Amino acid sequence: MRGVDDLAVSGRRVLIRCDLNVPLAAAEGAAPTIVDDGRIRASVPTIRAVLDRGGRAVVMSHLGRPKGQVTAKYSLAPVALRLAELLGESVSFATDVVGESARSCVDSLDDGGVALLENLRFEAGEEQGDAAFAESLAALGDLYVGDGFGALHRAHASVSGVPALLEHAAGYLVHAELDVLRRLSTEPQRPYVVVLGGSKVSDKLAVITNLLGVVDRLIIGGGMCFTFLAAEGKAVGDSLLEADQLDAVRQMRRLADDRGVEIVLPTDVVVAQQVDTSAESRVVAADDIPDGWKGLDIGPDSVRRFAAGLADARTVFWNGPMGVFELAPFASGTLGVAQAVAAVEGLTVVGGGDSAAAVRQLGLAEQFSHISTGGGASLEYLEGKTLPGVAALEKD
Ligand code: 3PG
Ligand code: MG
Repeated sequence: MRGVDDLAVSGRRVLIRCDLNVPLAAAEGAAPTIVDDGRIRASVPTIRAVLDRGGRAVVMSHLGRPKGQVTAKYSLAPVALRLAELLGESVSFATDVVGESARSCVDSLDDGGVALLENLRFEAGEEQGDAAFAESLAALGDLYVGDGFGALHRAHASVSGVPALLEHAAGYLVHAELDVLRRLSTEPQRPYVVVLGGSKVSDKLAVITNLLGVVDRLIIGGGMCFTFLAAEGKAVGDSLLEADQLDAVRQMRRLADDRGVEIVLPTDVVVAQQVDTSAESRVVAADDIPDGWKGLDIGPDSVRRFAAGLADARTVFWNGPMGVFELAPFASGTLGVAQAVAAVEGLTVVGGGDSAAAVRQLGLAEQFSHISTGGGASLEYLEGKTLPGVAALEKD
């Protein structure tokens, strides 16, 4: 896979596909603000390199899931402002994707100038991988750099269509992320422990099944643990439960037993009747959640057990929060796991928007080997799938 340093960018228009899909918060009537700018920061080095060599950077990204509709709350306008601050350059923001505004922004670029196109997913052709839309994008550049790691698992026009039309290379972020994933997949130092959280088992079964061939221990928290607990016949009250996944979970546990992979589940959970900061909450045994109550975090005993399961690890991959960590009463589990992973000596990787944001908010980022900018992309890689964006960048 060629790198951005291999491209002769000077004086040329370089389309750079980034993943600037950052969480936004909008108070009623106020302009949206960026909650976590990690993905914008991570995109800066490649853009900087293109500018420093006299290239004209045409940056493009999606934000959220506007499904082909121009939707004000998904505008990249706040991202353009933040990108300009982080680059220390003015960023010319196009108010459309491949229309009049985009063409004029790109045409007015000088060497070393930056433009940002409006949200790619305002055009239906993006997610459809539409060939004509890919050509319209390609017409805005002479070269293509793929640096949107978090979107490499999407066969979208800007991810896999445009690199087929232009001379292309991977950016620094994509290189760095793929390096780490290769280290996780090839002869990781042992014990190799994976911590999974987040709400849905159905999203994670494929990756779990593939990981069972590689890991020594699997620690499971977050909303998805209740389907595991229920599969053991435990009462989970009103907790999140994917009843249609119970058989799949039982089958997966048999496979884990065959492979000698230890599965660690919570022993206690923090429960409440509503997902609300002011709701009464208590700690109950994981097999004794009362009706009408739902598990919203792992409890203190679980945190101790999870930490013990991490203490001897030499390689850790963590994806997904342990509870509803955005709300203070349900944040301790995620905090405890973050601290336990941070204390591990070896390769520690956290991936996924929520868990990465949690690690940054807790001020623990420096203590991790790598904070991935892509949850879904990392998981699909670890599932053993070929990511469409990687395949496109690898082709000549
Ligand atoms: C993400 O946040 O997962 C990436 O930016 C990809 O977005 P998507 O899941 O909406 O395709
Ligand atoms: Mg996603």
